[in-house]
Amino acid sequence: MLFHDFLTNEQNVLSKGSHYFPIYEKHLKKIVNSSVNFWEIGVHRGGSLQMWKRYLGPFAKIIGIDISRHCKLYEENQINICIGDQTDTAFLQSIIDKYGPPDVVLDDGSHVMKHVCATFDFLYDKVTKNGVYMVEDLCCAYWDELGG
Ligand SMILES: C[S@@+](CC[C@H](N)C(=O)[O-])C[C@H]1O[C@@H](n2cnc3c(N)ncnc32)[C@H](O)[C@@H]1O
Repeated sequence: MLFHDFLTNEQNVLSKGSHYFPIYEKHLKKIVNSSVNFWEIGVHRGGSLQMWKRYLGPFAKIIGIDISRHCKLYEENQINICIGDQTDTAFLQSIIDKYGPPDVVLDDGSHVMKHVCATFDFLYDKVTKNGVYMVEDLCCAYWDELGG
């Protein structure tokens, strides 16, 4: 269902490996149509946030986090964009202060290993009970240029 949505997307561009979709559905189907606080680190062209909005339904609060200022363009109803560095813990705390702790974190940001770890070290404990923390593209953990 989510994969079909991805394949037929006519809104903003998004980038996801096809093998992620069964994993997303396995861990996220329990929160469909709930008032979930869903964070995605890495907005790029905004299509992923729109996909989560379609999938999670009208009660979801979607927070997109990105270092690039242009991503603010992708803000819309139910989707808030926060501009800053995923390793900046004061910035991450300010998002919690404004929107509440995340129920789901999906890290699809820089993929630099020390960034992934710094974000995880700060945010993992902040995720609500029974929440989900996911990191995409962990193949990068084997790439020298990203500190793998
Ligand atoms: C792979 S793209 C995100 C793709 C998007 N999640 C999707 O599925 O279509 C990675 C994004 O991470 C952002 N980024 C890179 N370094 C970052 C950092 N240190 N903090 C926050 N965002 C960062 C980039 O600006 C880029 O938009």
